[in-house]
Order: sequence, then C-alpha cells, then structure tokens
Amino acid sequence: MDKIVIDGGRPLHGHVPIGGAKNAALPILAATLVAPGEHRLDNVPELLDVSTMLSLLGRIGCPSLVSPGSVRLDTSRIIFCEAPYDLVRKMRASVLVLGPLLARRGEALVSLPGGCAIGVRPIDQHLKGLELLGARFELSGGYVHGTAHELRGARIPLDVPTVTGTENLLMAAVLARGETVIENAACEPEVEDLARFLTSLGAHIEGAGTPTIHIQGVSSLRPATAPHRILPDRIEAGTYLVAGAITGGDVTVTEVEPSDLVPVIQQLRNAGCQVDVGEHTVRVRRTGPVRPLDLRTEPHPGFPTDMQAQFMALLTRAEGTSRVTETIFENRFMHVPELARMGAEIEIRGNEACVTGTPSLRGASVMATDLRASAGLVLAGLAADGLSEVLRLHHLDRGYERLVEKLRALGASVARVPEERRDLGVLLEKQAAAK
Ligand code: EPU
Repeated sequence: MDKIVIDGGRPLHGHVPIGGAKNAALPILAATLVAPGEHRLDNVPELLDVSTMLSLLGRIGCPSLVSPGSVRLDTSRIIFCEAPYDLVRKMRASVLVLGPLLARRGEALVSLPGGCAIGVRPIDQHLKGLELLGARFELSGGYVHGTAHELRGARIPLDVPTVTGTENLLMAAVLARGETVIENAACEPEVEDLARFLTSLGAHIEGAGTPTIHIQGVSSLRPATAPHRILPDRIEAGTYLVAGAITGGDVTVTEVEPSDLVPVIQQLRNAGCQVDVGEHTVRVRRTGPVRPLDLRTEPHPGFPTDMQAQFMALLTRAEGTSRVTETIFENRFMHVPELARMGAEIEIRGNEACVTGTPSLRGASVMATDLRASAGLVLAGLAADGLSEVLRLHHLDRGYERLVEKLRALGASVARVPEERRDLGVLLEKQAAAK
C-alpha cells in the first residue's frame, strides 16, 4: 500500500481544477440500470469508488468502457440482480443498486453493508420506503433479498433525510405506477443531479433539492441522447480551499459550482479568510490569523459532515478555542487522536470537539480509517513543520482524484511512495530539485 509524504509549512498558491462529484457519479451510475441501453456520462472522476461501482455493474451484466473523464455503459441486459458482500464491504454505496434493480427486475439481493469507521449507518429508511412502494424484504445470511411484483407510488415520510436513501427511493419511484411523494428528503446537490439525470431518461420528478419530492411514475425509460455531465465535487473543492487557508496561501478552485459551496465559503470567511467568488471559481486567501469557529454539521444546506475533518485541521491553527459539533455520524472524530500526534489540542465530549489552537503543528506519521479524516490529516501535514506521512492511502484514492499531482501543482512538497519506503527527506529534496 502507498503513503503520502509531505514536507509541510509552505503556503500553497495557484489554480486547481475540480473533478466530478463522487457522490453524484455513484448514484447516477446505478441509475443507468433503470433504462436499458447505452448510456454516456461525462466528468466522471477517476476514483476507486467509481471503479468499484463499475465492477458491480459489470457483475450485474452491464459492461462499461472508460476513457479519461467519460464512461460508456451498456445496461441492455441484467443477468444477476445481486450486490455481493465482497463489493459492498469495499463500498457502502453499492447499496444504491437496490432501488433500480427492484424497479427494473422486481428483484434484488444486496449484502447488508454493516457498520463502518464513521458510524453504524443502517439502511432501515431505504427498506421502509421501498416497502411503502410495495417491495418485500427478507434477511438471510447477511443479505437483504427484495422482491416486488409491481411498485406502486406512495407517500414516504423519511425519519431522517438520508442521502443515499432518498436516491434509492427516487430510482425506484420513477418506474412505480402512480405518484410518489418523498417527504423529509435529502436536499443535497447530488440528489438534484441524480434527478436531472433521471429526467433526461424520461422520468417525471419535481422538487428535487427541496425536502418534498414528487415523482410521477412512467412505464419505461430510455437512455438520453446527450451525455450527462456529473456536477463538480463540492467536497473536493472545499478540501483545496482549506489547503489554501491552512497554509496561509492563495488558492483558486476552478470548474466548480459556487452555490453548492455556500456553507463552506461562509465558514472560511468567519475563520478570517478572504474569499472571492466567480461564476465557476472560488478563490481563498489568508494573510491574518485563523479565527476560531463554532461549527455544527448539518444536512444540506447546512455545513457538510464531509468537510468536518478538514475544518478541524484548520482550527488547530486558530487563535483561540473552537467548538465542532458532529450531528450526522456518531463516530466521525477518528482524525482527532492522529491530529493530537501532530501537536493539536483537541478534547472530545460526546459529539462535540473542543479545539484549542496552537501556533504550530509538528510533522508526524499518521493514518486514518476513513476518506475525509485522511484528507484532514493531509491538510494538517501541509501546515505542519517538518515531514509528515499519511498512511493507508487507499482511503484517499476512494475520493480524491490525482491528489498528489494537484497539490504539487499548487507548490506543495508532497510525494506518493510505498509504505515501506523510509528515505523521505531525500526523496522530497530530489523531487524539488527536479522541478
Ligand atoms: N441513517 C439512518 N437510516 C437510514 C439511512 C441513514 O438512520 O436508513 C442515518 C445514518 O446513520 C446517518 C444519517 O442518517 O446518521 C445520514 O446518513 P445518510 O444516509 O444521509 O448518509 P449516506 O447516504 O450513507 C452520503 C454520502 C456520505 C456523506 C453522507 C452525509 C454517498 C455515497 N455518501 O452517505 O459521503 O457523508 O451522505 O452527507 O453519497 C464521503 O463521501 O466521504 C461520505 C461518507
């Protein structure tokens, strides 16, 4: 396995292009199952999770052809209605094939995802909603077996505004007979992008991006004539903005949708950064101190849980004490003990972290057990004095496309090497000399 090595303490400068959103690409790839035929998607990020979803679709019987940024997928035939454990345990989002398979084939066998590094993460709301549409489920051998003679539109009041739950229901309801109303739906931009894609296949959806979504079922859907372009990744963009902020640099993210970044931009300003918003760009600069924040994660349009670890890294540098409250996942402070190894002062009480800023962090070897925690550690390494190494890189490969390349283009001293390699200082010096 690889690690990232960082010689920190350099302000980052420059422009960085942002790729397509992982969390939009995954449901949209699953959604191709509802319309038999050839689909084309553009701005698809090259990520481990996307490859995992394409492997899953391949096993279902739908081959794909990947070229840089673009995927062609043939969903004419479905051979197996199954998401097996070996893929679901790699990526929970595999559960997104449940709704489409039930809608198209009336059957789905999906391994239960189980807990993960950030929390218990049940799928009860997915199952409850699909049952209201007429599906029946049996649990056996760690798998949920769903069958549906016919899906019928229904009113589905969700207990929590689950993102992938809303997406699963949306993908099932487009082919259900009659009207479905999803109440307390997730409002994330990725849900809206999925709705745009389904609409391009002939679905009738109103209200995506609001808490109430109306879907008028149709009897069949067909692939769109024009390729669908996946929306920009607001979390990747937010991560590079924090990279600019934490290093006291000047970073512009390009090819973004600034309206999806509003809560992140707001908190960067509160933290003392200057943020300039263009049509498809956001620029962050910091010359003064980092100001402490009172941050609370919330469903969209609140502050995203997927940016919590990155902001926590920023707040370790603040002049004063910040409070970070995590309300979405019960176990999303895995980065805290690792940040402490770099000299951060953080105390956790339940779902609150109290972060006392320190003038400097020190480089260290750290590792995380989830994607965004790993991103937070890379950011801390960029700001720390001396060498840091972030182990277990496969987490970052799940969600950050060409991370090392993009950071180096911003002036970071960073390299990707096998975990066993030790001559790190020499390596980075050589790279700097070669530049
Ligand atoms: N929940 C339930 N029952 C359910 C579903 C969810 O109780 O049936 C709870 C969860 O346990 C959690 C809360 O509801 O406490 C919200 O979970 P949600 O279902 O919204 O999360 P998700 O759909 O599994 C997506 C993203 C996550 C992101 C969350 C929250 C994808 C593929 N994943 O997960 O992304 O953190 O929404 O915004 O879209 C990441 O990219 O690193 C990542 C973890």
